[in-house]
Amino acid sequence: MQTGMVHLHNFLRWVILVLLLVSILKAYSGWQGKKAFAAGDKKIWLFTMISAHITLLLGLYQVFMGRYGILTTTLPEGTSAMKDKFFRFYWVEHPLGMVIAIILITLGYGMAKKAVSDEIKYKKAFYYFFIALIVVLASIPWPFREIVGRPWFPGMN
Ligand code: HEM
Repeated sequence: MQTGMVHLHNFLRWVILVLLLVSILKAYSGWQGKKAFAAGDKKIWLFTMISAHITLLLGLYQVFMGRYGILTTTLPEGTSAMKDKFFRFYWVEHPLGMVIAIILITLGYGMAKKAVSDEIKYKKAFYYFFIALIVVLASIPWPFREIVGRPWFPGMN
């Protein structure tokens, strides 16, 4: 089950990236094209938020109870998590970056329900999603990252 959860967490990254890109494009074209707010756009933003929240729940489990979890790992004598690049990434940098990104995604979705003009909805959502995308890209353990790198797809090496 543990492996399945890591695999799902890994795979959901692609779902989030694709949905986030579509959300950004929708928000940008709505904003620049001065379009009336569309129910379909709200739906895509909602799916983006839901996939991010599921990934968050899986991540929370990993960071506490996973194979390198805070509660399941004993660091070697004299080592602190902040001095160890691997544990600093998985216990602090990755969770913190992703939680910030997920808050931004939630705020972006929230614009769909705000009582403001459609232009402001699209514009603010665009910025929230765009910054979230940059933070997600910067916080993913891409395979080319030293020490913390993980496979492109679940189960690959
Ligand atoms: C947008 C949100 C997130 C994305 C896209 C994401 C992406 C990833 C990816 C691609 C991996 C590598 C998985 C593998 O080894 O195959 C990973 C691992 C991990 N993530 Fe996330 N993550 C997100 C949010 C979070 C959050 C919020 C937390 C903690 C609160 C978290 C904690 C972890 C941990 C602890 C691992 C290592 C798991 C292990 O190897 O046992 N992640 N994440």
